[in-house]
Amino acid sequence: MTDIVIFVGTESGNAQMVGEALNDELSRLDHDVEIIEEFDDGLAVLDGHETVIISCSTHGLGELPDNIIPLFEAMEQEKPDLSHMKYGVIALGDQTYSDTFCKAGKDMDDIFAACGAKRVGDRLEVDACTQPLPDEEAIDWVKEWLTLL
Ligand SMILES: Cc1cc2nc3c(=O)[nH]c(=O)nc-3n(C[C@H](O)[C@H](O)[C@H](O)COP(=O)(O)O)c2cc1C
Repeated sequence: MTDIVIFVGTESGNAQMVGEALNDELSRLDHDVEIIEEFDDGLAVLDGHETVIISCSTHGLGELPDNIIPLFEAMEQEKPDLSHMKYGVIALGDQTYSDTFCKAGKDMDDIFAACGAKRVGDRLEVDACTQPLPDEEAIDWVKEWLTLL
């Protein structure tokens, strides 16, 4: 059993739906799961966690969802040492935005790596144009991800 925290960055709920689907699946597999969607306290959400999944959409032209910006900015400014942490990324986007496809998920990936955390597995990039059921794709991804922890 692993303690897993899911950080959700969302504007209109898809990344949250993915987070909840992962929560259900991971709980069913007897992991201890917490979902976090509020990041107003900046780095505090990182305390005590060693295994993280980031489920994050992209908005504007390649921008982070508003709710997760405080975490990103605090990490960028303070560069906490996350060398003890493993993480996975599910980036939600839309290929129509070809220049900024999944950019916020990629930015979250980069900032965790820059702080020394180790990404487990490949980043999942979900295209809203071709994948109407991101939660199903995410569940398939997390089953594989668990084997790599
Ligand atoms: C106004 C708007 C801007 C968007 N900009 C981008 C973008 O720059 N890059 C991208 O890959 N997807 C973009 N998307 C697509 C969203 O990331 C995608 O629909 C995602 O599933 C939304 O997830 P959410 O409901 O968790 O916010 C945009 C969507 C909207 C409505």
